[in-house]
Amino acid sequence: MSHTITSLETIVSLCKRKGFVFQGSEIYGGIGGMFDYGPLGSLLKRNIEESFIDRFVHSKENMFLIDAAILMNSNVWKATGHVDNFHDPLCEDVITKKRYRADTLLEDNNINPEGMSCEKMTQTIQEKNILSPEGNKLGDVRQFNMMLKTEVGASSDSSSLSYLRPETAQGIFVNFKNIIDAMHPKLPFGVAQIGKAFRNEIVPRNFLFRLREIYQMEIEYAFDPKSQNADVLFEDLLSQQKEWLVSVGLKSELIHRRDILPQDRAHYSSKSVDFEFQFPFGIKELTGCAYRTDFDLSKHSESSGNSLAFVDSGTGEKIMPHIIEPTFGLDRLFFAILVSVYKEELLENNEIRTVLAFPKHIAPYLACVSPLVKNKPEIVEKAREVFVTLKKKFGNVLWDDNGNVGKRYRRQDEIGTPYCVVVDYESLENNTITIRDRDTMEQKRVTIQELLEIIA
Ligand code: GAP
Repeated sequence: MSHTITSLETIVSLCKRKGFVFQGSEIYGGIGGMFDYGPLGSLLKRNIEESFIDRFVHSKENMFLIDAAILMNSNVWKATGHVDNFHDPLCEDVITKKRYRADTLLEDNNINPEGMSCEKMTQTIQEKNILSPEGNKLGDVRQFNMMLKTEVGASSDSSSLSYLRPETAQGIFVNFKNIIDAMHPKLPFGVAQIGKAFRNEIVPRNFLFRLREIYQMEIEYAFDPKSQNADVLFEDLLSQQKEWLVSVGLKSELIHRRDILPQDRAHYSSKSVDFEFQFPFGIKELTGCAYRTDFDLSKHSESSGNSLAFVDSGTGEKIMPHIIEPTFGLDRLFFAILVSVYKEELLENNEIRTVLAFPKHIAPYLACVSPLVKNKPEIVEKAREVFVTLKKKFGNVLWDDNGNVGKRYRRQDEIGTPYCVVVDYESLENNTITIRDRDTMEQKRVTIQELLEIIA
């Protein structure tokens, strides 16, 4: 019998206990909306990133990868409208002055805030007598700009103002001409980027779901709308997004498509579709796909005085490409993968086995090597030999000689290691070892050469 537990507490506690995710600045009482990836979490996150690059860059002929600076000229954010439009609706507890997101308060009271203006939210809060979590009245709803400001350089005036980028996308748009000049692509082509973005969320919450410092993985896909149908391309990119989400471990039945209403789209988007995921606290946005038209490239061309148009090398025609943007929040995806792969199984001996059934290519560690016993130097030496061979070849391989073999298997299951390798008495005689598969729990005796092939 097997059943799945996806409570938030279970995931948060496993993450801390096993070194996936720690609260940011924990010894000082933490800081809202910040988390640190621990030893296992960093490996898992890197494997997700690598899979993203394999799928969306290496496997394509027309995709490039960049890594732009987080801090940008503040004119970038004026040109794109982020200074005026990158808002969330905020309302304040009139007694404690604590601030809350109005749309979240409405959702918590089973009211759908989709499409509501600030005035409509204020009216609904009053009519339904919705109070703050402290039980006090709430003030009017107003917009709150979520960009985090900072100062660059020694002087402190308007020229030093900069923002921590709220989306990685703009690093791609402002480099659009540089990328064309360096790589000479033909339309359509895409540019991907993985990096940090920052949002001064009013109420960060639900673990990695709503953070202030986030990782995004974004693709800006440029095409000529006169020669390619935007709707067809949009659906194609969406289906690639979903297919990749499943390939990194998400359960397909927990992913839901949501077409965003015009009044709820970001200011730059003329069509948006999210994939939502069944998180432990409800079905919420996981990824987005937006048709940004030529909004960003045109705004930057106008505002900077540098044309970002694409010039067709054959005809000399100037085209302002349109952009479709599939975007992934890496932290949310990391969280959704853990929810998807977490399993508790009742074994025949009534023991509960906790397993993280990661797809093998994203598991933090690929294999764990152990000697059957610790007090036989020949076995330990042979096991170290196997360990060193695997480590040289694959890198992410663990050594474990604590407790008995059964306990080691349970420990590795709990962190999702696909293979456990044990060196025993027979290994000394015929150069074979046992390899145990995390998912089937089957053990096989194989030669060291076969072991390398299985793991590869
Ligand atoms: N460039 C488009 C863009 O930034 P977005 O929908 O605002 O679009 C993209 O963000 C993705 O980033 C979201 O789908 C989500 O996965 C992730 N994300 C956004 N805000 C987040 C937050 N506060 N905490 C964690 N992830 C977040």
